[in-house]
Amino acid sequence: MDTIILADWLSARLDRAAAEPMYRQVLELMQQAVLTSQLAPGTKLPSSRTLALDLGIARNTVLHVYEQLTAEGYVTSTTGSGTYVADTAPRDGALRQPPEATKAPCTISRRGERLIAQAGVSPKQWGAFMPGVPDVAEFPARTWSRLQARLWKRASPELLTYAPGGGYRPLRRALSDYLRVARSVKCQPDQIIITTGIHQSIDLAVRLLTDFGDRAWVEEPCYWGVRSVLQSSGLTLVPVPVDVEGLNPTARDMAEPPRIALVTPSHQYPLGMVMSLARRRALLEFARQHKVWIIEDDYDSEFRYGSRPLSSLQGLDDAGQVIYVGSLGKMLYPGLRMGYMVVPENLVDSFRTGVAELYREGQLMQQAVLTEFILDGHLTSHVRRMRGLYGERRELLINAIRSRFGDALPVRGDEAGLHFVLELPDTADDRAVAAAALGAGVVTRPLGHYYMNRLAAKKGLMLGYACVPNDQIATNFDRLAEVVEGMMASIVVS
Ligand SMILES: Cc1ncc(COP(=O)(O)O)c(C=O)c1O
Repeated sequence: MDTIILADWLSARLDRAAAEPMYRQVLELMQQAVLTSQLAPGTKLPSSRTLALDLGIARNTVLHVYEQLTAEGYVTSTTGSGTYVADTAPRDGALRQPPEATKAPCTISRRGERLIAQAGVSPKQWGAFMPGVPDVAEFPARTWSRLQARLWKRASPELLTYAPGGGYRPLRRALSDYLRVARSVKCQPDQIIITTGIHQSIDLAVRLLTDFGDRAWVEEPCYWGVRSVLQSSGLTLVPVPVDVEGLNPTARDMAEPPRIALVTPSHQYPLGMVMSLARRRALLEFARQHKVWIIEDDYDSEFRYGSRPLSSLQGLDDAGQVIYVGSLGKMLYPGLRMGYMVVPENLVDSFRTGVAELYREGQLMQQAVLTEFILDGHLTSHVRRMRGLYGERRELLINAIRSRFGDALPVRGDEAGLHFVLELPDTADDRAVAAAALGAGVVTRPLGHYYMNRLAAKKGLMLGYACVPNDQIATNFDRLAEVVEGMMASIVVS
């Protein structure tokens, strides 16, 4: 490319009426000229005084531009001899590829491709009937901000720097007390590791407990997010069927024990059943015999409407095979990004080092606020209040379904959690129904999305009721029902 007459070239491109400062415009144009070789390596730049005069701008502006270009390596300047365009072309022969090679698009890895192709995350995370989201509008924000303001007044350096060691010690103590009482988890504060949520807890457990290519049992169906975390860590996923009693491995599954098994015993995700005591004991025994790590995902078990919360699987484990993971996202608000894991005693040091090494923990101020929130009794009272509210919303939605469809479309899911499944006939295309519902302004998730084996998938829609105000449930359901009826003319209302 021809070397340019700098002042003319710049003058033709400067926009003197633009809001962007002159300094920035000149700098970016000159950087562009060097990168495209319009200012060839070795070219002597005009003096700052000359260029400023030619452009009709302040000399200081040009001086600052030259200083910045020098600092970033675009030009070199020697006192007395002037400023020259530097040779910035890549020197390594390997980098000088033939033109065809440089045109080839950069591609992501195979596991990256798989992750993106199977991604389940949706840009919309709020509104009727978004599953798995609590009513964040009910969060006691004033209480939280009062506690936060009080703590910031006495913030010490220790609370503001990195936080290696598994999290804020008083929070770990408060959580271990809470989990012992509310979830029958057997733990000491040291066994608690604070994370940014269940995704991170599982990621950490997988990195520390498995090797590339190891087998992992997941429930079929299961939460897509967990599947993505496991798969992108290079594990081989084995979908294990569930029935009314929870995980129900086949003889073939049992013949090839996995390294890790992921389960939701208190509230199977997404179908909602509880793992029976017999199945819990069988799984623990199998894990003990074959040295299988069990990850118990206890994501929303605070919310049971017909009975008291159920005990955890971890509480039955005498062999130290269970890693228990939980989240504050469903109890408080998902954007808080805070969760906890309870690890067996012999793994505590490894996990405390691992979490610090991989993620450079922090957020101790946030953890300190949460500690006060728990110790002052706000967590328990908020969960109690939300349990009442979500129970009402669940009932309102079920009533709306019954009055429109009778028993033609059954509701599946224990009396728990923040969502249930509205079953559709086997012939239905639940993905198409969910897409059409979204078009009508109603968020749902097709049940088929949660199965690895698409052919075995039951048909249905996941409906979250927790985040929908009581007076908006019926109207939103009517809109959804129109879509469902329109797409399945064959529904017979009994
Ligand atoms: C079964 C299950 N596990 C884990 C999570 C995510 O938890 P977290 O937000 O703490 O990462 C979800 C979110 O919906 C879930 O449904």
